[in-house]
Amino acid sequence: MTISIKSPQELEKMRIAGRLAAQVLDMIGPHVVPGVTTEELDRICHEFIVNEHHATPAPLNYRGFPKSICTSVNHVVCHGIPGPKVLKKGDIVNIDITVIKDGWHGDTSRMFHIGPPTVKGKRICDVAYESMKRGIEQVRPGATLGDVAHAIQSYAESQHCSIVREYCGHGIGSNFHEDPQVLHYGKPGTGPMLQPGMTFTIEPMVNLGRRHVKLLNDEWTVVTKDHSLSAQWEHTLAVTDDGFELFTITDHWTL
Ligand code: MF3
Ligand code: CO
Ligand code: CO
Repeated sequence: MTISIKSPQELEKMRIAGRLAAQVLDMIGPHVVPGVTTEELDRICHEFIVNEHHATPAPLNYRGFPKSICTSVNHVVCHGIPGPKVLKKGDIVNIDITVIKDGWHGDTSRMFHIGPPTVKGKRICDVAYESMKRGIEQVRPGATLGDVAHAIQSYAESQHCSIVREYCGHGIGSNFHEDPQVLHYGKPGTGPMLQPGMTFTIEPMVNLGRRHVKLLNDEWTVVTKDHSLSAQWEHTLAVTDDGFELFTITDHWTL
């Protein structure tokens, strides 16, 4: 495994790509309401990325993925394909945006409640957010990816939720997915040691029920086996000399 170290010039390009990905989520928020379809959300994001920002939606045609964003509703864990599904009051949806700007990637996702949050919807979204946050807060030179993983897993499990094992965060830069794999479960002090200039995502998928998942016949959509709700949040960040820098932030959104 070789983890690339980005130069200051490369980090600046990732800052720009990361901010754009986060701006797409800021923009789409007001459209995530009862009655909208996930393909309408895809269309609005595609238009904004391509026509307003002259950037590329990384998912489109990535390993055959057919759309520009991922929309994962309720028990869908990740990689939901936008389509005719109509969002209704009480649903939760993860919207995952990856853009390529000037050759560099920014990757981020957030959860949205459709109408007022339900008790279970709020619970899984809040536990997943706090899990991601605790993982990010471990990031500094000399810490290991196992430290990050353990902070995420131990919090989620303390809340009687479970961490999906089959999908993980990833190094990111001029490639969408590169080394290292960023597992969301593990033991402190294990795995690669973090160094300034490494860039990766942290994106735990947290289930309200059991951790097991199943891939649907479309070869993309991942769902919980027990049909329990699942939530995920994602930031792209860099290791700095004294901690971390989040790239997927805007004037309206940070950790
Ligand atoms: N954005 C996802 C991630 O966080 C990957 C989506 S791959 C796609 O890594 F092909 F489904 F878009
Ligand atoms: Co990612
Ligand atoms: Co993503």
